[in-house]
Amino acid sequence: MAGARNRIEVMHGVNLDMLGRRDPSHYGSLTLADLNAQITAWATELGLRASFFQTNAESEYVERLHSLRGQVDGVILNPGAWTHYAYSIHDALELTGLPAMEVHLSDVESREPWRRLSVIGDLCLATFSGKGPDGYRLALARLREALEETSR
Ligand code: DQA
Repeated sequence: MAGARNRIEVMHGVNLDMLGRRDPSHYGSLTLADLNAQITAWATELGLRASFFQTNAESEYVERLHSLRGQVDGVILNPGAWTHYAYSIHDALELTGLPAMEVHLSDVESREPWRRLSVIGDLCLATFSGKGPDGYRLALARLREALEETSR
């Protein structure tokens, strides 16, 4: 459909490129390429188009957020450990003005206390944590609902 709002950027942060080598009890055994392939399949099922970004440099993550306005319709973030302290990412996400979802593969609430703080949570429509890759499917579905509501 022309003008459909269906473009979703999935932004993986620091150390997410190491999936497949990280503790499988928290992160499972998929590599980042496997995870992105799974997310692409779910997005297609939902009528969405997913694009992907990963970096280990906070400045690049911020700059990518700066570039998103007008380019995509929604964003899914898993900033990795930056989630817990990088206020620069909070401010850059706010600047996008985009509907956003927060995803963590592991259950951040039940791990070390410092993982309980999210500096982006207040800007996100919802957070899915501890559901493994399925968190991304849930985030895509929730974003689609939000995009449908705002196009009515
Ligand atoms: C993570 C949780 C963070 O606390 C951690 O630093 C990560 C990954 C997750 O997906 O579970 O790198 O965001």
